Amino acid sequence: MEKIILDCDPGHDDAIAILLAAGNPNIELLGITTVAGNQTLPKVTRNALAICAAAGIEVPVAAGASVPLVTPQVVAEDIHGDTGLDGPVLPEPTFELDPRHAVDFIIETVMSHEPKTVHLVPVGPLTNIALAMRKEPAIIDRVKSVILMGGSYTRGNSTVCAEFNIYVDPEAAEAVFRGAWDVTMVGLDLTHQALATAELQDRVRAIGGDLAQFVLDIWGFVGSAYKKVYEFDYPPVHDAVCVAALADPQLLTCAKAFVTVELHGQWTKGMTVANFADVPGMHHGSSEGLPMGAATTDVAMKLDWDRFADLVVDSISALAASKGQ
Ligand code: BDR
Ligand code: CA
Repeated sequence: MEKIILDCDPGHDDAIAILLAAGNPNIELLGITTVAGNQTLPKVTRNALAICAAAGIEVPVAAGASVPLVTPQVVAEDIHGDTGLDGPVLPEPTFELDPRHAVDFIIETVMSHEPKTVHLVPVGPLTNIALAMRKEPAIIDRVKSVILMGGSYTRGNSTVCAEFNIYVDPEAAEAVFRGAWDVTMVGLDLTHQALATAELQDRVRAIGGDLAQFVLDIWGFVGSAYKKVYEFDYPPVHDAVCVAALADPQLLTCAKAFVTVELHGQWTKGMTVANFADVPGMHHGSSEGLPMGAATTDVAMKLDWDRFADLVVDSISALAASKGQ
């Protein structure tokens, strides 16, 4: 059983990450923390509570940072809509927010568990995680791992080079990659393999009931947005991959790289720069005057889609069954 804190900005694919975390028997969801990203903090926090209500989930939900560390705020309204979770009917929350700031929730939860037992799973901008590691540096040694959705080694989606979660708060991301903890980067190169295909949608439809419909409405809205903005046939379920990878250690094939974040480039700000240790053609050595660090980040390269689809379907079925659907 892997214990996790899911730090998110729901968000359509964040919603599936929450369902997977709550519905998979190998994951213990200690809490959900929210951060401004896909939409403003009040909107994404409200969405987190609505997702919990829709799925019958009861775990602490704590709201965190409302703006990035340094860079002015941007949101992803073109993909996630005005609410941040346009498409499904959003039920009223069934419980109150945890009174703590997300940063304090993260610190207190990590420090009150045995060392190396809690994973941080950030699937939004990394503002809360960077603030937590600055407020209580002891968490860096204590967490079991950080498995984040963000970045890429080939392309961007906010700009040519930069992926949204990193682009929104590059300074926070740079600190997280630089931290001396085990980091896995699940970037766009990987999550574009994790599509909500017609087959996956049919399998969810076959579950039946309100929760399955909630998921189909999520994919309906974000699918249209991805078609319009990126000309994708099906929407990626980016954030759910991080949770799925902890539920099933066989899910991802990774390669070690030194990863850092470009903070200054006029065209490249927010780009993750990855120097692979052993991938042919992707190890460039150290340029003079630009020493690169050790290849300590696990970069996700290949997804086992069949296993991923099973995990998504099984978690939705389990939650639907516990709601009596
Ligand atoms: C990431 O950006 C957000 O829009 C998604 O929720 C995901 O975390 C993909 O670039
Ligand atoms: Ca997200």
